[in-house]
Amino acid sequence: MSKITKAVIPAAGLGTRFLPATKALPKEMLPVIDKPAIQYVVEEAVNAGLSHVLMITGRNKNALENHFDRAVELENLLQEKGDQHRLGVVDEATGLADIHYVRQGDPLGLGHAISKAETFVGKDAFAVLLGDDLIDPDSDLLTQMLRVAETENASVVALMEVAPEDVSKYGIVNPGALNGNVIEVKELVEKPSADLAPSNFAVIGRYVLQPGVFEVLRNLQPGVGGEFQLTDALNEMAKNPGLAGPVIGFVFDGRRFDTGDRLSYLKTIVELATERGDLGADFSTWLKIFTEKL
Ligand code: G1P
Repeated sequence: MSKITKAVIPAAGLGTRFLPATKALPKEMLPVIDKPAIQYVVEEAVNAGLSHVLMITGRNKNALENHFDRAVELENLLQEKGDQHRLGVVDEATGLADIHYVRQGDPLGLGHAISKAETFVGKDAFAVLLGDDLIDPDSDLLTQMLRVAETENASVVALMEVAPEDVSKYGIVNPGALNGNVIEVKELVEKPSADLAPSNFAVIGRYVLQPGVFEVLRNLQPGVGGEFQLTDALNEMAKNPGLAGPVIGFVFDGRRFDTGDRLSYLKTIVELATERGDLGADFSTWLKIFTEKL
C-alpha cells in the first residue's frame, strides 16, 4: 500500500454546460444512475488508500457537504421502517472518508484551485482527481500511478490517446520513450489546436503531484483563457526536473467515462446502467428494442 494518503478533488466549477440543472445544484451532485458523480470519485480515491480528502469548493456547494455528512432524520425514518438496504446506501457516503473543504474564492483556473490545497497537503505527495472524469471502478489506475510516483519521486499524469479533433479539449503531452505503461513527458501544452499539438496523448483527470508543485504554482503566469493552468505548472516541472522532480505519464488502457458535457454524460449513464446487477438485464432488453425503433 502506498504511503501517499491525501487526495484533492476540485469541485468549484459553475457547471454552466448543465444549466438549468446546475442553477442551484453543484454539477458534481448530478446523478450517474442513482449516485452523485462525486461519490464515484471519492470511492475511487478511498479504494486507492487515499482516505484524507480535500474538496476545493465554491458557492452553492452546500449539497456536497451535506451528501457526505449524516442525514439523521432520514436515517431514523429508514430505521423505523426497517429498511436496512436503503439505510446502508445512505450510510455509504457518510463513512467513506475524512473529508475537508476549502473554498476557492475566485474561479481563476485549475492551477489556482490546487494552490488552495497547500495547507492541507503540507510536504507530502498527493493525488488530484477531477470530477468530470470517472474511471472504471474495476481499474487500479490510481494505485499504479501512486506506485510510479513513489518509486520515481515524480509527478505522474494519467494519459489516453484521443482523436485529433479532440486535442483542443485537453492538456496534451510531448512524449518521449515509452516503457510499458510509463512514458517520459518532455513538455505539456494546455488545449492546443490540432496543428500545434505535440501528440494525441491527453491528460485525463488523474494526477499524482509532488509538493514542490505549490512553489511552481506561486510563480505561474495566467495561461489559456486567462486562467492559472495546472498544465502550465507541470510543463515548467517537466522542463526543469530540478524544481519539483520529473513528470511521468501513465498510459491508461482502461475505460474512462466523461460526465463533463451532456452527450458524454448520457452515454456514461447508458453504458454503466447496462452493467448494473439490479437494472442491467431489464435496461438492456429495453434498450435493444428501443434502438431498433430509431
Ligand atoms: C482540465 C485540464 C486539462 C485536462 C482535462 C481532463 O480541463 O485543464 O489539461 O486534460 O481537465 O479532463 P477542463 O476539462 O477542466 O477544461
